[in-house]
Amino acid sequence: MKFAGADEWVPARGGLPKLRAALPDCRGCDLWENAIQVVPGEGPRQASMMLVGEQPGDVEDKEGRVFVGPAGRLLDKALGAAGIDRDSVYLTNTVKHFRFEERGKRRIHKTPAVSQIVACTPWLSRELEIVKPDLVVVLGSVAARALLGTGFKVTERRGQPVELPDGTAAMATVHPSAVVRSEEYRRDFGLLVDDLRSARSLAAAGHSGKSKVKPA
Ligand code: URA
Ligand code: SF4
Repeated sequence: MKFAGADEWVPARGGLPKLRAALPDCRGCDLWENAIQVVPGEGPRQASMMLVGEQPGDVEDKEGRVFVGPAGRLLDKALGAAGIDRDSVYLTNTVKHFRFEERGKRRIHKTPAVSQIVACTPWLSRELEIVKPDLVVVLGSVAARALLGTGFKVTERRGQPVELPDGTAAMATVHPSAVVRSEEYRRDFGLLVDDLRSARSLAAAGHSGKSKVKPA
């Protein structure tokens, strides 16, 4: 299936409040139909670091906020351990609606299709234009696909400085939900914290004069 994409709904001007207000109207792909609500990014416009996840999960869809479920709690803990205050960074997702499959009463996460990722990317592009972070932290393969292209392998290049096509500094790491499910939790949590520490240094090296990442 190919979708029209979000372009028609994304305001070309204005800041984050205007973007957030326009988001619920989006019909750029089919994911709005079954989700409870759209989940906007959150954080200060002045943030020097932007973290980009995959899509809202079950809890995020119910609460309307990014990273408030199990993966979000783990991310909060990892940010804290890396010395990064969650409220000083901008958090968002590649796809703004929850894609799932119903199994009995449970809603099971389903990875968004390439066509849905492509359809939703205009929202993320506009967030990047507005916030202009010194560093983008790419969480997992869906965000990597949208921001770094199809050939990018997160497991091979995690923790290394890379660049988005427009030259914005970036760094990829694994998605926190992969750590939640890991059989080697302690090791994988430690590796995520290491990557986030590197991200903190990379963001601090930015010269934009943006408000710095605050220590947790
Ligand atoms: N996983 C994500 O990628 N984003 C969220 O907001 C929650 C879980
Ligand atoms: Fe629009 Fe993205 Fe939701 Fe699809 S997932 S309807 S493109 S906001």
